[in-house]
Amino acid sequence: MAGAGTSQLSPRWAVFLCLFTILCSLFTPAVAVKENDFKKCDQSGFCKRNRAYADNAVALGSSWQAPYKIVPGLASFKDGQFNAIILKTIDEQGNTVRLPITVSFLKSGTARVTVDEQRRQEKDIELRHNSGARPERYNEAEKWAIVGGLEVDKNAKVAHESETGIKIQYGPDSAFEADINYEPYSIEFKRDGATHIRLNDRGLMNLEHWRPKIEKPEPEKKGGEEGQEEKKEEAPEVPASADESTWWEETFGGNTDSKPRGPESVALDITFLGYEHVYGIPEHAGPLSLKETRGGEGKYSEPYRLYNSDVFEYVLDSPMTLYGAIPLMQAQRKDSTVGVFWLNTAETWVDITKAKESKNPLALSVGGAKTNTQTHWISESGLMDVFVFLGPTPRDITKSYGELTGTTAMPQEFSLGYHQCRWNYVSDDDVKEVDRKMDRYKIPYDVIWLDIEYTDDRKYFTWDNDMFKDPIGMGKHLDVHGRKLVAIIDPHIKNVAGYHVSDELKSKGLAVKNKDGNDFDGWCWPGSSYWIDAFSPAAIKWWSSLFNYDRFKGSMENTFIWNDMNEPSVFNGPEVTMPKDNLHHGNWEHRDVHNVNGLTFHNATFEAMLSRKKGELRRPFVLTRSFYAGSQRLGAMWTGDNQASWEHLGAAIPMILAQGISGFPFAGADVGGFFGNPELELQSRWYQAGAFYPFFRGHAHIDARRREPFLLAEPHRSIITSALRLRYSLLPAWYTAFYHANKDGSPIIRPLYWTHPSEEGGFDIDDQFFVGSTGLLVKPVVEKDKTTADIYIPDDEVYYDYFNYKKLATSKGKHLTVDAPLESIPLLLRGGHIFPRRDTPRRSSQLMKFDDYTLVVAVSKKGDAEGELYVDDGDSFDYEKGQYIHRKFKLEGSTLASTEAEGRDVKSIKEGEWLKRMRGVSVDKIIIVGAPSSWASKKEVVVESEGKKTTAPLDYHKTEDGKNAYAIVRGIGAGIGTDWTISFA
Ligand code: GLC
Repeated sequence: MAGAGTSQLSPRWAVFLCLFTILCSLFTPAVAVKENDFKKCDQSGFCKRNRAYADNAVALGSSWQAPYKIVPGLASFKDGQFNAIILKTIDEQGNTVRLPITVSFLKSGTARVTVDEQRRQEKDIELRHNSGARPERYNEAEKWAIVGGLEVDKNAKVAHESETGIKIQYGPDSAFEADINYEPYSIEFKRDGATHIRLNDRGLMNLEHWRPKIEKPEPEKKGGEEGQEEKKEEAPEVPASADESTWWEETFGGNTDSKPRGPESVALDITFLGYEHVYGIPEHAGPLSLKETRGGEGKYSEPYRLYNSDVFEYVLDSPMTLYGAIPLMQAQRKDSTVGVFWLNTAETWVDITKAKESKNPLALSVGGAKTNTQTHWISESGLMDVFVFLGPTPRDITKSYGELTGTTAMPQEFSLGYHQCRWNYVSDDDVKEVDRKMDRYKIPYDVIWLDIEYTDDRKYFTWDNDMFKDPIGMGKHLDVHGRKLVAIIDPHIKNVAGYHVSDELKSKGLAVKNKDGNDFDGWCWPGSSYWIDAFSPAAIKWWSSLFNYDRFKGSMENTFIWNDMNEPSVFNGPEVTMPKDNLHHGNWEHRDVHNVNGLTFHNATFEAMLSRKKGELRRPFVLTRSFYAGSQRLGAMWTGDNQASWEHLGAAIPMILAQGISGFPFAGADVGGFFGNPELELQSRWYQAGAFYPFFRGHAHIDARRREPFLLAEPHRSIITSALRLRYSLLPAWYTAFYHANKDGSPIIRPLYWTHPSEEGGFDIDDQFFVGSTGLLVKPVVEKDKTTADIYIPDDEVYYDYFNYKKLATSKGKHLTVDAPLESIPLLLRGGHIFPRRDTPRRSSQLMKFDDYTLVVAVSKKGDAEGELYVDDGDSFDYEKGQYIHRKFKLEGSTLASTEAEGRDVKSIKEGEWLKRMRGVSVDKIIIVGAPSSWASKKEVVVESEGKKTTAPLDYHKTEDGKNAYAIVRGIGAGIGTDWTISFA
């Protein structure tokens, strides 16, 4: 969300926006400190209770008795699954509640521990207020997040069983073991005999069971929340963990949450033994290596919060919640990575502490005391459902998690290009003018975006007819150079009679309901609005129909969609979102599903884009602001409303890296900063960094000055143009990285712990990264007036400067200082890699589709190199039918060869249109960086392709400093899709 402004607008809009701003300010929190508009742990009843529960347990130390135990007689293991009942003792008389537990051992080597509550499953619970909400614990998170990988491993077997517990061997080569202890209940996960992860290690498990509400006389309140504070002081004897004051009702910021089901949180402590670093659980604006959260110098004092929110002007270096949530955490130590995925879609808080394990004086081992990272997961409702990954590599976790939640959809190729956005391009003429100017200044771009003002009164699927007289004409104009339009469509539907979308939503009963079962009405951009309930299959079907070309008039084949405000953002709602007691399809409370709400809307739009026209089979492109585990299957995300400041430029990198290692790598940040006006140097640096975001979009707030790259004074215009051209030339390498993200979930930009899990020195580095497996190592400059960069070198490989091919004096574990004047990007080539480029500058990616390729070969210390190219039509699903080119390039000795990467017999594939055209596309140029000195006198190379031998000229050069050489071979002419060899002998 952002305050509306009046620049660049027609008088009509200006009047409207002024009125709107006044209205909004009545409903939105003050602009000053956003932090106070959102809950802290002790303002959230269940978080406070669970933290207090933990404090109490920790304070009691060894005398703490966790009240959860498994009944041995009821435990069984069969076909890869352990089933039992956990008994929770709930009072001093020894009364218990029954919690069914299932531990499933999956084929991938992942274990899943699910705990439910028997009483709630029985569905016979009388609810307070006769609420329509379902009594059982929410059990459909899986339905939205998980798409595979659940087959159980029938080879998992019992290694030992007794009255006190059971040990189960599973995983690859039976190297994993789960030791389930019955009393108190806990599970140890071992790999090769050593314990890596412990569930309920500290006995902090807490599952608030169902209980009837006992009406008590209302205590006298002294008014609002302050009154509660005072009440607390008067009755200090109630321990916070047992504080009932928020069990049945809770108030924050003037909003009261009725809680028909009472307290129902789930919490568990998870310890990573010997692990000092943990990563993941986006989205937060903080370092990649997560900080401790229980106070102390340089630490946070609040838990990391996951409660998708429209936190405008968000603060940096904070555990505060942001727009999306992925409850996946991985822990890293030298040569080992493990992780957990907490499948829960309710509000969640995660505390992190690190504890040095005191050395056992009797142990013979030498070396320092090891650090354990202790985490405490707290969710408001739902099942306790945890997936445990035992690695041992980051790649293993990425892969197993990808099997469960799916991987990045193969993107529309254009979406890897540059996106030009602002709030707002005010008319179709404005759009065409920006398009022309980009051309005039030879600045490549692929997409221009329309924010909310293109609509008639913020009614989505309509146009402001005064300002956008001819949307189809505009779309056609863009299409001339292969460009696209992205239009925003938000989930709030203006509540006004006669607006077809609103009328249909209401008459079909597809809106989210309030607690009384009526259509929920709140405030967002259009004023009074309803929200589509995208949890409902009928709503998805209806939503899809709205995008048909004949219904969304003015949209066409090159129109794509932006989904915003889907946390959902509700300006007058509690914490700027929906009341938790709202009801969704199936009568689930909003409380249960809040964090997956954004995904369901994104999903509905994705589905809609698949069915705009019968027989049109094209990949959707949908950008989302809110997300959950699994959103990667549906499109791209961006980090929301950042600011035009150096700090925000710096903060974006760890945020995008965190997305990458959490399975959702198609991520970017608003280039230039959303709020405010970047100074020229900042804007130039931001484009240089943005050129390395998987999703690369410039965006600006409505009050921000125009800042399209062509408007900037030199040298900035040229600096930005160069950054954009660099991005475009590397598109084949980016596309290949996306292909891998699609195949196995691998991050597109990769932090050092992920690429070099043996190098501890890189574990907390989050301001530099590798691009896919290209060996390109980037360290964007994110500080004002900075003209050098210190790049951490994680290995003994040779590194070259990308631009001048100089060999750099690097050494493993040391920082290398490189010059980085404003016009340059610190970018290295790691020896041993080959990557594809397209070097002819053009206006858009579509115009490059059939250009020849350049290969860049960075010779390793050993003298070899390897790399890949994956390419398909970038638009349809024909790649699923083999319509793609996937090559592997290898330099060995004096031969460089291209072979089919998957060993397919490509001749047997019936070529479609695109493959046929690709027959005319060749490898034009090869640049060999680090060329051996024995090539110095060579004038040509021998190219062997499709049974023919030809020669191609070779130019051998010394680098400027004379310390390294590179060779350029031109006019090779071998088909990109064919086998060929080049001999340098
Ligand atoms: C939200 C979005 C921002 C957009 C604005 C108007 O603040 O985060 O990108 O420009 O809404 O739609």
